[in-house]
Amino acid sequence: MDTKKVWFVTGASKGLGLSLVKTLIESGYKVAATSRKSQNLIDAIETFDEKQFLPLEVDLTNERSISEAVRRTVDHFGKIDVLVNNAGYGIGGAVEELDQQEIKDSFDINVFAVIKTMQSVMPYFREQKSGNIINISSIAGFAAGIGWAMYAATKYAVTGLSEVMAEDVKEFGVKVTVVAPGAFRTEFLQDNSLVFAEKKIDEYHAVSTSHEKYATMNGTQIGDPEKLSRVLISLAEDQNPPVRLYVGSDSYNRAKEKINLLSEELENNKNISFSTDF
Ligand SMILES: NC(=O)c1ccc[n+]([C@@H]2O[C@H](COP(=O)([O-])OP(=O)(O)OC[C@H]3O[C@@H](n4cnc5c(N)ncnc54)[C@H](OP(=O)(O)O)[C@@H]3O)[C@@H](O)[C@H]2O)c1
Repeated sequence: MDTKKVWFVTGASKGLGLSLVKTLIESGYKVAATSRKSQNLIDAIETFDEKQFLPLEVDLTNERSISEAVRRTVDHFGKIDVLVNNAGYGIGGAVEELDQQEIKDSFDINVFAVIKTMQSVMPYFREQKSGNIINISSIAGFAAGIGWAMYAATKYAVTGLSEVMAEDVKEFGVKVTVVAPGAFRTEFLQDNSLVFAEKKIDEYHAVSTSHEKYATMNGTQIGDPEKLSRVLISLAEDQNPPVRLYVGSDSYNRAKEKINLLSEELENNKNISFSTDF
């Protein structure tokens, strides 16, 4: 009997998604992967056996396109065991600079597509009484940097919904992990991925300085996507995977700093917190 798991990965034509799909194929797993343009995905994977790999052209802003992709995967491989919500992009700008369309577009991909994909796989996971959901958030979904408020909002949303989802689906044997990467060497910081507010307000000096700092990191990020891909695979093989996982030493350090700050603020204001009880 074939015991290898079937994976479904969103946003796989480049970066972490592509690295994960390649590693999964090399390791003998069956993989369905989505991209806005399936030809980009096919070109990036180069050679594959359709018994092992299913490239899917999916519009992640369209609920029907997502549910159709999930259905095609189950038709093709017989089941889905692991869903990875990977597709996403950074959006920079002060809140005042970003317009409603820029904000909506980022929530459509970074948040609503994650929700729609989980809604599409859950009926299968509930029926088979098993499944793993791995949602790629960011350290910005716990300890965000200056100039990335909207990106932080989307990734905090992914963190929050994953934490509660993990509890909600436990009784069906479904496991949820939200992964918070630090800086990884992908195309994330490149012009074809990263989006900035069209409108610029010159007074936001700290915001523009922060964006310049991130631009200089492109190509030298500390995180290795191949190593992260292997970590993601081990999560799905773990009987008891963590609900939250911070990956990259930079992510760990920023999370630790934030936890210390939270503890300090909580204790400093304890009197106020207790003062509002009846
Ligand atoms: N790299 C980092 O430093 C870092 C840090 C923290 C979190 N992350 C998160 O990790 C995930 C993967 O990012 P990456 O680093 O691999 O970046 P990447 O190299 O830019 O790849 C991003 C992937 O997301 C998809 N995507 C991007 N914009 C999209 C849009 N507007 N509509 C639909 N799909 C879109 C793309 O899919 P297609 O082009 O195939 O459609 C692409 O394959 C993202 O969720 C990102 O927020 C990355």
